[in-house]
Amino acid sequence: MYRTCLLKCLKPARNHLPSSSASSTFSTSTMSLFKHKNAKRIEGLDENVWVEFTKLAAEPGVVNLGQGFPDLPPPPYVLEALATAAAGDNFMLNQYTRSFGHPPLVKALADLYGHVCGRSIDPYKDIVVTIGGYGSLSHSILGLVDVGDEVIIIQPFFDCYEPMVKMAGGVPVFISLKPTQERVVGGVGDSGDWVLDRDELASKFNCRTKAIIINTPNNPLGKIFKKEELQVMADLCIQHDVLCISDEVYEWLVFSGHKHVKIATLPGMWERTITIGSAGKAFSVTGWKLGWSVGPEHLIKHLQTVQQNTVYTCCTAIQEAIAQGIRKERGRLKEQDCYFTLLAHELEAKRDRMAKLLLAAGMKPVIPEGGYFIIADISAKDVDLTKMEGDEPYDNKFVKWMIKNKQLAAIPVTSFISDQAKSLYEKYIRFCFIKQDRTLDSAEAILKNWK
Ligand SMILES: Cc1ncc(COP(=O)(O)O)c(C=O)c1O
Repeated sequence: MYRTCLLKCLKPARNHLPSSSASSTFSTSTMSLFKHKNAKRIEGLDENVWVEFTKLAAEPGVVNLGQGFPDLPPPPYVLEALATAAAGDNFMLNQYTRSFGHPPLVKALADLYGHVCGRSIDPYKDIVVTIGGYGSLSHSILGLVDVGDEVIIIQPFFDCYEPMVKMAGGVPVFISLKPTQERVVGGVGDSGDWVLDRDELASKFNCRTKAIIINTPNNPLGKIFKKEELQVMADLCIQHDVLCISDEVYEWLVFSGHKHVKIATLPGMWERTITIGSAGKAFSVTGWKLGWSVGPEHLIKHLQTVQQNTVYTCCTAIQEAIAQGIRKERGRLKEQDCYFTLLAHELEAKRDRMAKLLLAAGMKPVIPEGGYFIIADISAKDVDLTKMEGDEPYDNKFVKWMIKNKQLAAIPVTSFISDQAKSLYEKYIRFCFIKQDRTLDSAEAILKNWK
């Protein structure tokens, strides 16, 4: 009986085996062939830019301007708050806390975002605290996107959007931000000049469209969508009854002359928008992996369902420390000593320094309006990579060559682009500039000596 059933199950699968190995593998290890295979939902999603390039950048002597993390110290008071939470009198801060967010943290977030959005936010119904911004993205997509639903993704995009949509059974639909050529001044571009074509954007919306994912300030481009640009997206969302997942993890890192606008604050958008934030980005503690989603109760409750059935809750002590951080910065948002403001100022000087260095080294930077990345056009470097093996985009090979020959790590911009459009962006690479001066000095020495 068991044997008949097993043979029945195995028969169709056997046809997928390479003919030479089929019979021997079939007879010796049936389990490893059929039961140990990956679930279909992760088919083809095994490659990951961070895994690949972080390993290369970890080689001794390499100056790492690749992955997006600060090598600057976080504000000391949040570190002290974490130490006190873990080792202070209230030992219960080392135990599980509320699934959807530690009460002091959700209250602090409700107060902060209530102020920023100019509306009342319910700490218990309108917020869910997650494992990083990543957790909020995956909860939003898993909780709201169904098999066959289309999700519009603006590229360049933070690389996990596409696999997350695919894992949920959704269909990513891409639209590209493209540079308007006219305004390249003195060899330098401006991220604000990278725009969406309105008609093309409108053509992506249809009755199967469930959501659009936007990212402002954008990683890797540093573009901050202007209110008018957001309004175009909002109008389309409302017209087609589409949800908006707004990834705003760099919301505080905005440079002079620019303003971060939350799409959730535009008329008719609160009801259909999930806004995502990250403590890692706000307080320079990316290793703490804490983030949140804020939005209307009728959407957030689905993310809460995913949370309670996946990770259940996030680290209590870290939530306690970030609650203190949010309360402190909320109290001095408009003041010079607000950490968010200080960090943005510090980063603006680093951005300008990086732009000058890249320009002098013969690359064409695109000046970011926010965030902590700068992309640069490497066409003029004209490095001959024809001898490098592998069918990879030019920027992939360039970065691998640069790490090996110049000991400088960056990230290829095609990692943030769908397969179909990679050729449009393969002359750009991304540098992370939230680094201490010593690290940037080392990068400067490499770029200056580049022959
Ligand atoms: C645009 C964007 N969204 C989300 C994340 C994930 O944030 P977290 O580290 O809080 O998970 C990142 C991290 O680099 C990011 O750049």
